[in-house]
Amino acid sequence: MVPDPSAHYKTPADSLVIMHEIVLPNDTNIFTNLMGGRLMHWMDICAAISAQKHSNQPSVTVAVNNVSFEHPIRLGDTVVLESRVVRAFKTSMEIYIEVFVENAVNRTRFRSNEAFFTFVAINEKGRPMPVPQVKPITTRDKELYDLALLRRQLKLLAAGKKKLYEMPELHAQFQEWMDTSA
Ligand SMILES: CC(C)(COP(=O)(O)OP(=O)(O)OC[C@H]1O[C@@H](n2cnc3c(N)ncnc32)[C@H](O)[C@@H]1OP(=O)(O)O)[C@@H](O)C(=O)NCCC(=O)NCCS
Repeated sequence: MVPDPSAHYKTPADSLVIMHEIVLPNDTNIFTNLMGGRLMHWMDICAAISAQKHSNQPSVTVAVNNVSFEHPIRLGDTVVLESRVVRAFKTSMEIYIEVFVENAVNRTRFRSNEAFFTFVAINEKGRPMPVPQVKPITTRDKELYDLALLRRQLKLLAAGKKKLYEMPELHAQFQEWMDTSA
């Protein structure tokens, strides 16, 4: 009998990926800052490697939360991307990714972005496959794990895949927001 991977646990550290890129002229816009699309491409690759380390299956991007670009990243900077799977559901995984920018000459480092990607593990026919569950270890990973359910439900609502009444946790959260803002 084939073992069910969703009966097994992995920690976020098991899927940690740290990727380094240097910003070259071909990566920049006319202001010689890193183009947002190039950064998204690197984030997608880093997250994909985490998803595949966690699931041991080819995995595809199914959704990304809003990503904002608050600080320009300059030509010659080093971009450090760190991703890990923070929660898994049946066939989908939420990957948390942080982006840091380092300048070795100026000896500076700052965090420029964070994002949550959802990946789905697929089989050779492109159909979703069950994935191992996540066991959060650190306090930060427990926070990310707990809120992943609401983030998933928000994405499914925005994608029109589920109705609010089908997701009691999100429904309760909306009710709480409405009560506190009234
Ligand atoms: C990923 C894919 C195989 C899923 O197929 P599907 O028929 O939609 O399968 P399902 O509806 O069962 O969804 C699979 C999982 O994805 C989740 N999912 C689907 N859409 C989602 C969204 N917008 N946000 C969050 N999760 C989503 C579902 O909740 C389900 O999760 P679960 O099994 O953990 O409960 C299919 O959508 C696909 O091939 N997409 C294209 C992927 C791709 O090419 N990515 C690169 C983009 S350029």
